[in-house]
Amino acid sequence: MSDGLEGVIAADTVLSEVDGAAGRLVIRGRSLDQLSGHTTYEAVVRLLFDGFFTDLPAEPALTAAIGRARAEVFGHVAALDADLRRLSTIEAVRALMARLPDGDDLAVALRLVAAPAVFTAAVSRAGKGLAPIAPDPGLGHAADALRMIKGAAPTAAETAGLDAYLVTVCDHGLNASTFAARVVASTRAGLTSAVLAGISALKGPLHGGAPGPVIEMLDAIGQPGNARAWLEAALDRGDRLMGFGHRVYRVRDPRADALKRAVTALGQGSNVLPGRLAFAEAVEDAALQILKARKPDRSLQTNVEFYTALLLEALAFPPDAFTCVFGMGRVAGWIAHAREQLAGGRLIRPQSRYVGPEPRFAA
Ligand code: ACO
Repeated sequence: MSDGLEGVIAADTVLSEVDGAAGRLVIRGRSLDQLSGHTTYEAVVRLLFDGFFTDLPAEPALTAAIGRARAEVFGHVAALDADLRRLSTIEAVRALMARLPDGDDLAVALRLVAAPAVFTAAVSRAGKGLAPIAPDPGLGHAADALRMIKGAAPTAAETAGLDAYLVTVCDHGLNASTFAARVVASTRAGLTSAVLAGISALKGPLHGGAPGPVIEMLDAIGQPGNARAWLEAALDRGDRLMGFGHRVYRVRDPRADALKRAVTALGQGSNVLPGRLAFAEAVEDAALQILKARKPDRSLQTNVEFYTALLLEALAFPPDAFTCVFGMGRVAGWIAHAREQLAGGRLIRPQSRYVGPEPRFAA
């Protein structure tokens, strides 16, 4: 048995390949560098969905259909009651997502693509006592997501930054949330159920819950001179450094560099961002040196979450919404994997080895 199923191949996929030794991510025949910063999120949704829905429209009709789906799901924001407002942002978004009907067709899929952007904005604004802002179906997904959360039109640079982020995280092999989504899809429960499984797995701090704590770590460190002592103390307590380490990558996560480029581009013309970025780089350098010294046999490198935190902070998303923004991008991958599983896969049902006591019988 492989602990944590490490190294186990559990599916064949045409969707993406994570090459952990080379630090390379391929999404449907394109390298991450060809996609991130060069295309919109809707274009990547189309790339991932191609072949999995017979009625998938070409661009720009798909962008318009996702816009209409945002307007459609906005009706569910009315269900954001006092109980849901007391939950964390991801829990409230998950509860709203659970109200969407299940099914396997394109209409269900597009509502699921649309919903995280609409619900994340509404839940975040509700947390600040602000009314939700209705979607503008005529905008692109990234621009409307930013507009709904900020209450103002984003700049072209901000929209490009969020598009780069959503594209960068849209799919990543058989990560924990995608595996969870495929398991549920294999039971034929429907795409909404599969996506809910994905969100639930993503929420954990070892997966998509890490970037909020990255900001907490940077804020607690405060200045570069404090980094080494703070990081050493955290490791002495047995804590893990958020934004470092990966199950598959043994070299630097290529998404970290894609997102660092996006933050750098966003920082041009800003008075604040270059300083924040330089501070984060100093913390990253210190963390990598310390991890190397403490774990010489395990190559622990920067993962996607470190620069996710910087980019989403620069885009003014509140840290408790970061995991939802990750879900906004990854939802396309979950849906494509669920459709792929349905098309060719059997029920996923591994076995466990019983290591408990044998039944005792009275003499
Ligand atoms: N900080 C300190 N030590 C670490 C870290 C870290 N970030 N990551 C791994 N290690 C240590 C482990 O404690 C372990 O040490 P041990 O052998 O003495 O027990 C050793 O390195 C190997 O770690 P594993 O737990 O076997 O690695 P695994 O592949 O299971 O975990 C994971 C990968 C969960 C990402 C891990 O590196 C981690 O917890 N990182 C911090 C959280 C994080 O950044 N999560 C986001 C991941 S990216 C994503 O999912 C989108």
